[in-house]
Amino acid sequence: MERIQKIIANSGIASRRKAEQLIIEGRVKVNGIVVSKLGTLAGKNDVIEVDNIKISNEEKVYFLLNKPRGIVTTASDEFNRKTVVDLISTDKRIYPVGRLDYDTTGLIILTNDGEFTNNIIHPRNNIDKTYIAKINGILNPHDIMQLKHGVFIDGYKTSSAKVKVRKIDNKANTSMIEITIHEGKNHQVKKMFEVLGYKVLKLKRESIAFLTLKGLNSGEYRKLTPKEVNKLYVLSQKKKGNR
Ligand code: URA
Repeated sequence: MERIQKIIANSGIASRRKAEQLIIEGRVKVNGIVVSKLGTLAGKNDVIEVDNIKISNEEKVYFLLNKPRGIVTTASDEFNRKTVVDLISTDKRIYPVGRLDYDTTGLIILTNDGEFTNNIIHPRNNIDKTYIAKINGILNPHDIMQLKHGVFIDGYKTSSAKVKVRKIDNKANTSMIEITIHEGKNHQVKKMFEVLGYKVLKLKRESIAFLTLKGLNSGEYRKLTPKEVNKLYVLSQKKKGNR
């Protein structure tokens, strides 16, 4: 048995707080009866409805995919292009946790667990995402300091990042930069380099927290273990607002 606000949040239709609000507003039914008391418990066989629409109580699944280039990260694409969901064989309605650009490769999680998704992508929870960017040019110490302390993109200052120069190719005038951020604004990494005058030629996400691409070739995926799912959850709770 679980609290109904948790079941509603897990279904992905609302955050835990919003779910509580829905209950208080009398918009939630359990087995056909309006329940407006927070903390009411329900089990697997109970039918929960929000605004008369049944919410899914299906088993939660979690996949880690090594996304190839040329695949979109939305669950369905208006131009009918292949999506990351198409690469995974499951009968569950999964969707990607956050986004990677069409031309970005690397680690992406897919799940049908809405609360898990919110925990991973919410910047407040400080889940580190590490990218390797191949850029045109070579960063100077001032650029590195700026990236570390935050740069302005779209009128917003990025929060602190970790930055390491992995490799420099003086002949080609390119370099490989490792950058760790915990936010996930649209095209964030590319824009962070762009404002400093560099173009990202290639971008790969190498890790999310302790998860890496170890053992996965491009296009391959595996299930997360229950231990890994739990560890991510604990991490997101512990680091909340604690940076
Ligand atoms: N930042 C980007 O610019 N692109 C991605 O795909 C991910 C992070």
